[in-house]
Amino acid sequence: MSTPKILALSGSLRAGAFSTAIAEGLKDALAGTADVTVFTLNDVPLYNQDLDTATPPEGVVALRAAIAAADGVILVSPEYNFSIPGVVKNAIDWASRPYAKGAIKGKPTLIVTSSPGTTGGVRAQAPVREALIGAGARPVAYPHVAIASVGEKVTGGKLTDKAALDFTLGAVHALLHDIRLLATA
Ligand SMILES: Cc1cc2nc3c(=O)[nH]c(=O)nc-3n(C[C@H](O)[C@H](O)[C@H](O)COP(=O)(O)O)c2cc1C
Repeated sequence: MSTPKILALSGSLRAGAFSTAIAEGLKDALAGTADVTVFTLNDVPLYNQDLDTATPPEGVVALRAAIAAADGVILVSPEYNFSIPGVVKNAIDWASRPYAKGAIKGKPTLIVTSSPGTTGGVRAQAPVREALIGAGARPVAYPHVAIASVGEKVTGGKLTDKAALDFTLGAVHALLHDIRLLATA
């Protein structure tokens, strides 16, 4: 197949987010292997079924189109209060609709979490996975990619730590494997 297209969604809205830096680092590291588009969720409003019409808000149109255009998704999320941040859940909710036809349905999706703390946001992994399954996505089966002490692993707005990058790229290769399997199914 041609070069796979990957959408790297950052689950944090803040300028200087480590989540966005991880997405940017992966984009650089995957140059020549996959076309990675980094997408932030700042323009996606809170889910409101009244707005989920044939003409949804622009930010939602953009999110859904970006997911639909990708062969696979890397969802980079922080952990908020031991769980999934509202911003990430909100994006999954928009991407899950229309019911059974959402852009994320059937999409191979790798979950990456991080934290400046020692747990790497690992407690967000299960709730993110559960929401993705509810939305009909295909979370990649791989040991948790949970990047601890992320503040020490990012330089110049990108994940640069070799060990963290190497481990995460192993998971990305599992994502690429799933994409290839689906393409030939
Ligand atoms: C509301 C809130 C809740 C948080 N809860 C957790 C938590 O449960 N575990 C954790 O490791 N860090 C927690 N943090 C710290 C985040 O990991 C840290 O702010 C991180 O930088 C957020 O990701 P970002 O850099 O991509 O914005 C929390 C931060 C906020 C603002």
